[in-house]
Amino acid sequence: MTASLRALALTLLSVSCLSTLAITQPSSERSAGELMDAVMWNREPIGGPFALTDQNGARRTDADFRGKLMLVYFGFTYCPDVCPTDLMQMALAVDQLGQAGEMVQPVFITVDPERDTPEHLKGYMPLFHPRFVGLTGDAIAIGAATRAYRVYYKKVEWDDRPDYTIDHSAFIYLMGRDGEYLGFFPPGTSAERLADDIRQRLAGDR
Ligand code: NI
Repeated sequence: MTASLRALALTLLSVSCLSTLAITQPSSERSAGELMDAVMWNREPIGGPFALTDQNGARRTDADFRGKLMLVYFGFTYCPDVCPTDLMQMALAVDQLGQAGEMVQPVFITVDPERDTPEHLKGYMPLFHPRFVGLTGDAIAIGAATRAYRVYYKKVEWDDRPDYTIDHSAFIYLMGRDGEYLGFFPPGTSAERLADDIRQRLAGDR
């Protein structure tokens, strides 16, 4: 592959991941626009029970994280750009909170369970934070979690390559100590902004 072709391919990968911001193509169940609107305009309840498997092969449910705030992100580890950037900001925010960061659980839920096995997540999550929980599961369990959080995702096959990418919405969800939905941050939110908001919420809790 020539340098320019590689640059083009990288651009296409990024766009594919980024395009979820303005995507209009339909998903198999609900349209991207409908799901994005549901989150952005708070039209539907967000969050709910999930039962998945973490990077150590342990079964984890939403109830495991009661008493802490959860920062929840849906994405996939082969995402070249958007996902790793947001996951890094989430991890940095936890660290910037200092001791208060102990009250925050960063959670990554894959929309690519085919490739993101527990073993694969075990290598990936520590790249961001030692306390990051990475979750995967079968198609039914991932489907239930994504429906609860109004996540849009769609597998996109390449014309000229055997593998695939995934278009997906990339909100960072903030959930409360009882699992209640507190709000979302858009993709690209800085660690400082995340930490500021979380700090205020933790202070307001007392
Ligand atoms: Ni992504």
